[in-house]
Amino acid sequence: AMESGVAKIMITDWDAYELELQERIGIDQRLMSRVISRAKKDPKRVVFAEADNVKILKAAQMIRDEKIAIPILLGNEEKIMALIEENKLDLNGATIIDTYKSLDKLQEYGAVLYQKRQRKGITPKEAVRLMRDRNYFGAMMVELGEADALISGLTKDYPKTILPSLHVIGVKPGIDRVAGMYIMNTDKGPYFFADTTVNLNPSAEELVEIIGLTANGVKFFDIEPRVAVLSYSNFGSAKGETATKTAKAAMLAKKKYPELIIEGEMQANVALNEEIQKENYPFSSLIGKKANTLIFPDLSSGNIAYKLLSEIGNAEAIGPVLLGMNKPVHILQLGSSIREIVNMVAIAVVDAQTES
Ligand code: ACO
Repeated sequence: AMESGVAKIMITDWDAYELELQERIGIDQRLMSRVISRAKKDPKRVVFAEADNVKILKAAQMIRDEKIAIPILLGNEEKIMALIEENKLDLNGATIIDTYKSLDKLQEYGAVLYQKRQRKGITPKEAVRLMRDRNYFGAMMVELGEADALISGLTKDYPKTILPSLHVIGVKPGIDRVAGMYIMNTDKGPYFFADTTVNLNPSAEELVEIIGLTANGVKFFDIEPRVAVLSYSNFGSAKGETATKTAKAAMLAKKKYPELIIEGEMQANVALNEEIQKENYPFSSLIGKKANTLIFPDLSSGNIAYKLLSEIGNAEAIGPVLLGMNKPVHILQLGSSIREIVNMVAIAVVDAQTES
């Protein structure tokens, strides 16, 4: 239990960010404010695997104050309490779970993990030991319905954070993979980038799956996806493995999702410039239907593109939104800001609402 009567603090970097965005005229905040108001209608339990971190605790206070979600904090209780006190936070009454001390849960969760992975080279003892890892523990809480969504990744690299969730929760039935999407909220409107976080070098068939996942991810934000499959080649203009792969992906995706607007393969400037398309590629199905969903040929291009745009472009990056997991899990970018964490929590809550 936490001490009461702690003075509430203003979370200043949030306010500063809001102000900065307002000043950057044109960046429309409605997209996220819609998600946040949807989250508030039915707040869900969100487990934070890295609650021994001051940014996570500040975000947890904010989402609790704003009634966006009910935080569950995983970590060493003394350390968390010390951080709360030191930073004058108010998280009175929030659930804190120290995985190392939750001996019954470790046994229970370990047995479930063992059931799932006994043919993947795991022993019962090892399964119990793995559960002390908060990424495994948090994923298992979500898997067993003891929490509604998992947020992690602030302090550990992405592969280490996502693997426990892949092992414990896994992908949605009927699909083979997960992928990561970023919303680049720019002064020209929102653009959706994928895959920016998971699949290193997807095949054409895997790209098709990523296109399907991403299109659903865009619809989640009540926006119609208009997909461009990006390449260094325009409709067969260049040779090479990536050109062939992206051309094939575009062709297969058009067949598989006839209801979607999909075009490619094409260079990024062509995808975003209708004049070039009208003049050179009048057959493009994106003419009159501005592309808003950009599919990258591999992880290098997707990851580099979004990071460049968020550092030097006039854009706010929202994400990464993890697509295709069987339960809501979202892995933060290393070093995310409090605002980015709050945004991801709101997305996770709405994600969990649509699950239930
Ligand atoms: N979708 C769904 N399941 C997957 C995927 C995927 N894309 N990749 C692997 N899996 C599954 C495997 O099938 C496997 O299942 P199984 O154990 O039940 O058979 C399980 O996950 C674990 O597989 P491993 O072989 O142990 O893991 P792998 O070596 O394939 O690693 C990982 C998966 C960690 C996602 C890897 O692809 C990776 O490192 N990706 C890049 C992540 C990254 O570094 N991103 C850049 C930074 S992110 C950022 O900037 C915010």
